[in-house]
Amino acid sequence: MEETMDQLNAQNPDSDLTPTEQAQEEESVHRALEGFYRAGKPPWDTGVTPPELVALVEGQGALPPGRALELGCGTGTNAIYLARHGWEVAAVDLIDRAVDQARQRAEAAGVTVRLLHGDATRLDELNVPGPFDLFFDLSCYCGIPLHRRDAYAAGLTHRAAPGARLLMFGYGPEPLDNPTTEVKSWAAGVTADELRARFAGWELLDVTPGTNSVPTFWFTLQRVA
Ligand SMILES: C[S@@+](CC[C@H](N)C(=O)[O-])C[C@H]1O[C@@H](n2cnc3c(N)ncnc32)[C@H](O)[C@@H]1O
Repeated sequence: MEETMDQLNAQNPDSDLTPTEQAQEEESVHRALEGFYRAGKPPWDTGVTPPELVALVEGQGALPPGRALELGCGTGTNAIYLARHGWEVAAVDLIDRAVDQARQRAEAAGVTVRLLHGDATRLDELNVPGPFDLFFDLSCYCGIPLHRRDAYAAGLTHRAAPGARLLMFGYGPEPLDNPTTEVKSWAAGVTADELRARFAGWELLDVTPGTNSVPTFWFTLQRVA
């Protein structure tokens, strides 16, 4: 069943937060993420480019290289992969340690990637005008507080070339009996209904379940308007 953004917001406690509570939520996300990078190698930092991105870049009917923007690039594995395959790449991450490591890795790999320390929901604060042919998001959006997600969608929409793709991997909502205690908004995850409602002017072309032990999804969207 498709849901409208109003219905989704009604189910979403984050939409009732005061500005102070919203700022606190963003701060707790930042603190938690920084903690992962400060502790060493975060669990997601596998150094392996997922087959779903490889298929889009090298598979049958691959996209021709163009301009790509990675949201939440971490230490740069996939931005470097895209640059190696002829893409002009910009990549942003909220955590400066991650961006520093990505810069070092890109340099060591001998590729050019525009690595930016900043917020994927505040792209206007960064010099990334686009237009981009491909947006790639591996588990960034699903961790963004709900009150910042419209800004994320608007930022991509303003920077999308006609027909641009967004390939996104995300965790589904956590079961109510197993809430994340670390950061409240991480329990929200991402759903196909949410993306359909939030990404106006985009078509959700494909939803493929991931292979993780908890519900995960690969979403492919295309800018149509
Ligand atoms: C689960 S990690 C995945 C990192 C990377 N995509 C990978 O696969 O190795 C999510 C990444 O998104 C970044 N992130 C989260 N919220 C962000 C935001 N609002 N703007 C930019 N990056 C963000 C985090 O710092 C983290 O590096």
